Amino acid sequence: MGLKITPAGQFTIEELTDFYNQTRVDYLVPMPMSVAVMAEYIHDFDVDLELSPIIHDEETEKFMGLGMLGVRGDHTWITRLGIAPGNRRRGAAAVAMNAIFEASEKLGAKKTILEVIKNNSAAHTLFEKNGFQKTRELLVLRRAPIRPPFSPEGEITWLYRNDALKALRSYPHHLTWVNALESMENASMFQGFHIKLKDGTRGWLVYRHKKRTITHFEFHTEQGNPVKMARNILLYLHLQYPRMDAYAENFFADNPHLPAFFDLGYFEAFRRVEMIKEYS
Ligand SMILES: CC(C)(COP(=O)(O)OP(=O)(O)OC[C@H]1O[C@@H](n2cnc3c(N)ncnc32)[C@H](O)[C@@H]1OP(=O)(O)O)[C@@H](O)C(=O)NCCC(=O)NCCS
Repeated sequence: MGLKITPAGQFTIEELTDFYNQTRVDYLVPMPMSVAVMAEYIHDFDVDLELSPIIHDEETEKFMGLGMLGVRGDHTWITRLGIAPGNRRRGAAAVAMNAIFEASEKLGAKKTILEVIKNNSAAHTLFEKNGFQKTRELLVLRRAPIRPPFSPEGEITWLYRNDALKALRSYPHHLTWVNALESMENASMFQGFHIKLKDGTRGWLVYRHKKRTITHFEFHTEQGNPVKMARNILLYLHLQYPRMDAYAENFFADNPHLPAFFDLGYFEAFRRVEMIKEYS
């Protein structure tokens, strides 16, 4: 059976959304996308549609699967990879991955990065077979819109776009692709707060504000106790958005702010594993 690769750029966003949703009908964590969310995703995360393979059965023309490739400098990022259930174990993902590696090498990429859900053993096997190595575990946290049980302390300063970007530029640690400075620069709505507590603890939070959800949190403690800083800044955040769901993705498992999340009603929805393939 022959497989045909077509660049995603030759399809409409509606078609790409439909393709992607076909591959996720039985996914471990349901993640269907709307056309608007797909368009935003492609834009914000620098997905290059010309380098993103769509796989069809050459004979029947039937859609089989897809992969998407983000490109930033000499790093590439695999995302949205999936093969529709009836078409698995026929080498389609392997073909998509090879197209992605070829494109990455042509661009002169030093590494390709991805994040995979922890218990997705089919995908782990596929990625390890293709030269990816596990680096770190990432937590995805959620919180229902409940009013915070007590009031925050400290002096808050809002960080609007430019100040939020300035804070992120000063961030000293590694960020995953979706939370990186470039993703925020591309995003339409984000902001943050700076907090200063009486004991000298200070730090900031930058987040995205969507229609019904607050997402993509980045925290940094400049001085003092990270849990105290995060607890107060989260209290302030949830007082501003008492009806919003919160979805905080890709916290490294050793992030010192995590206990504050659990204190305020966040729970671990699932874990991802970051994997990297280096090119020599
Ligand atoms: C993971 C997934 C993309 C694999 O697609 P596929 O087309 O079935 O994979 P291929 O046929 O190209 O297999 C290539 C290799 O991957 C590994 N693999 C694929 N499916 C596997 C499975 N169910 N169990 C174990 N290994 C598997 C094998 O090493 C395989 O090589 P082999 O056939 O020589 O043993 C597919 O199962 C899928 O779309 N799952 C749902 C979405 C998803 O998990 N996407 C990845 C998100 S990060």
